[in-house]
Amino acid sequence: MDSYINNLLEINRERQAELGRSPRAIVRTFGCQMNVRDSETLEAMIINMGFELINDENETDIELILLNTCAVRENAENRVYGRLGTIKRLKNKNPLLKIALCGCMAQQEHVADTIKRHYAFVDIVFGTFALQKFPKLLYTNLIENEQIIDIKNSQGAEGVLPQAHSHVFTHRHLAKKAFINITHGCDNFCAYCIVPYVRGREVCRPLEEILREARELAKDGVVEVCLLGQNVNSYGNDKNSGAARKGLAFASLLKSIAAVKGIERIRFMTSHPKDLSDELIDVIASEPKVCKHLHLPMQSGSTAVLTRMNRRYTKEQYIELALKIKSAVPGIALTTDIIVGFPGETDADFEHTLDVVRKVRFAGAFTFIYSKREGTPAASYEDQVPANVTRERFGKLLSVINPIIYEETRKRTGNTLRVLVDEKNGDMYKGRADNNALVHFTNTADCVGEFVDVKITQAKTFYLIGEAVKQG
Ligand code: 5AD
Ligand code: SF4
Repeated sequence: MDSYINNLLEINRERQAELGRSPRAIVRTFGCQMNVRDSETLEAMIINMGFELINDENETDIELILLNTCAVRENAENRVYGRLGTIKRLKNKNPLLKIALCGCMAQQEHVADTIKRHYAFVDIVFGTFALQKFPKLLYTNLIENEQIIDIKNSQGAEGVLPQAHSHVFTHRHLAKKAFINITHGCDNFCAYCIVPYVRGREVCRPLEEILREARELAKDGVVEVCLLGQNVNSYGNDKNSGAARKGLAFASLLKSIAAVKGIERIRFMTSHPKDLSDELIDVIASEPKVCKHLHLPMQSGSTAVLTRMNRRYTKEQYIELALKIKSAVPGIALTTDIIVGFPGETDADFEHTLDVVRKVRFAGAFTFIYSKREGTPAASYEDQVPANVTRERFGKLLSVINPIIYEETRKRTGNTLRVLVDEKNGDMYKGRADNNALVHFTNTADCVGEFVDVKITQAKTFYLIGEAVKQG
């Protein structure tokens, strides 16, 4: 184990004797599943340092608060600054409290500058490339008690993956489900997106390493894995791989994981339409372990906007691809991301977005108002759309897409879906069906972590309600 973790463990043992309890830590995660996965790694470090992980932010007796942040939209950043205001009051009451900020927002230079200038009480700022250095940074700060900022992009210099990924060293949130990183970073440079700047160039993990992790997870009781990458379809397309044709490597990765004994379900996120291969569609259709759900961000339905976004597909290509997938994999749930109000978007452009929504009929969607990100090409595009126009379009989009999502969800009523149960909430169990539908259901016996056949009796827009077929 990291020697800094051992040093911190010793310090924390002494503190435990003084405090009469374990030192406590809170980790707050903003943003996407990549961040959730990174937090699982950070939490494992924190536990190994001798902290007790707690959840209650109002608690005053806390020794460490770590915020793992997101930079994709401005409001995610504003929420972090807001949270820092609250945390400052905690620190005033308890000067021994250490505060650390990490993740995509922290990776940006202008954020580090703001923290330096206006948030001197933050002890450590570290970016996405320094994840593994957290124990060293915390130890150094405890000894020297000076603000540390580590946001160097070490990728180029060392030519290595930004993080090591042994699952053994993670604090998995669910016993039966795990994330596996398959790529890091992104090479697509969509004009609105900050990710390529804060997560670096795309790097693919070697196939053998991914398989080893899947096997170890299966041995540890995991039945469902979710493969993570900004663009999983380009897995194996990087310069080191020699994959013969675009998309082939990802399809064969899925087949290899499907061969791992014990893994019963495979999910993946996110797919870029431009790299989605016929082989992938075949694997989704033919491999029972690969879930019948595809998240395929369209971003906009207008070819002109897509071109300015640097998405590298047209409206017609997107529709053709989506309909091809739906007919090749009957019952598949197709979900998407849509941005409203990208610079230069006209009413006619927006109508194209609504047109695609009506033609493709998504089972779910994340809808976003365009957020200007400093350092991205689109931030300097002329004709940014006025906020009131964007808000109106956003409302219109929801009024078109939500009834479609409801209709698609409603199609599942009367079906019996196999649900992997995540948690119990009040009297209801909650879990996900193969097609990623969220299912709330009743059962007379405890079934968290199990597969349960659920008869669907009712549909809401964003989830289904049912009852276990075999009670107990
Ligand atoms: N503004 C709004 N939405 C964005 N996304 C990425 N960058 C921005 C931005 N600047 C959305 C995209 C992407 C999802 C993860 O976040 O739809 O697919
Ligand atoms: Fe951002 Fe585009 Fe890369 Fe997705 S594919 S992370 S939207 S640049």
